[in-house]
Amino acid sequence: MEDLLKQIEQYKQEIDGFVAKAADEVEQFRIKWLGTKGLVKAVMGEMKNVPNEQKKQFGQILNEFKLFAEAKFEALQASNDVSGKSSAKVLIDQSLPGDPVSVGSRHPLSLVKNEMVSIFKRLGFVVAEGPEIEDDWHNFGAMNLPEDHPARDMQDTFYIKKPADGNGPTWLLRTHTSSVQARVMEHQKPPIRVICPGRVYRNETISARAHCFFHQVEGLYIDENVSFADLKQTLYFFVQEMFGKDVKVRFRPSYFPFTEPSAEMDISCLICEGKGCNICKHTGWVEILGSGMVHPKVLENFGIDPNKYTGFAFGMGVERITQLKYQVNDLRLYSQNDVRFLKQFTGVV
Ligand code: PHE
Repeated sequence: MEDLLKQIEQYKQEIDGFVAKAADEVEQFRIKWLGTKGLVKAVMGEMKNVPNEQKKQFGQILNEFKLFAEAKFEALQASNDVSGKSSAKVLIDQSLPGDPVSVGSRHPLSLVKNEMVSIFKRLGFVVAEGPEIEDDWHNFGAMNLPEDHPARDMQDTFYIKKPADGNGPTWLLRTHTSSVQARVMEHQKPPIRVICPGRVYRNETISARAHCFFHQVEGLYIDENVSFADLKQTLYFFVQEMFGKDVKVRFRPSYFPFTEPSAEMDISCLICEGKGCNICKHTGWVEILGSGMVHPKVLENFGIDPNKYTGFAFGMGVERITQLKYQVNDLRLYSQNDVRFLKQFTGVV
């Protein structure tokens, strides 16, 4: 056993005196002493040859040795790539330029959403937000879409499994931010002037033109004497601010259960300037939003007197507006997080 003690003493001296001049020497130290085939392992392996009555004493000595080697390794690492005792210096050329810092950028959908919000804010709208997991009432029922209403099929819905006892409301992922309008009307009396930006979900197959989630900005204005002319003028103002003075708009009659009358709004295609292209399906026009006068039933659902108050509502997709503004032709790009796509928006505010 004398030999083993001598050997350990010798090893300790060697470890103590070790100086690393570079990071790879620290690694060599680790391999030599602490690696799976290292000397510390080998020394520990000697334990089996120690007579039983000395095992306790040697156990301590061997353990101390192991800790000693580990402590040295940590010290070598801590002093970065040279030993604390070493006189070796890393030469740094202070005149070299620094490593470039890559600056992140806002997501194009955030940029466009912020711009949309700021345009409506100038008209006195305030932002309202609500939950993405919604109950059936706020998403559908309150918006004049009772359970058996065929128009529910317009929006393929992700439902959330009911608890085993079947009690409580039906939960779903909101299909539009009209659910936020419902929540506002629940708590606020007219005048109401809100816009509701947010993410919505629909059970669609993912392709260049459709996704299972996207973003909307919806708006709601309720007061005395609000007319369809106000709706048109508000949306016309929005389009001019967003796309410039030259863009043309047109309204087409449409149907939504929560508005009556309802209209969809098209703008002249910005990509081909009305000449006809893939984006406008060669019509020169692109649909950008749904809108209408709030249905009296919706007002009644929230105790708002439809004889006293009228209102308009509208809803549009942020992706569509972004597509037109930045000519992004594949919806999937928005959620793939490809830096080559995202960095094109660096510096855009
Ligand atoms: N909620 C409708 C949709 O998501 C859009 C809309 C909002 C239409 C308000 C009319 C009025 O499709």
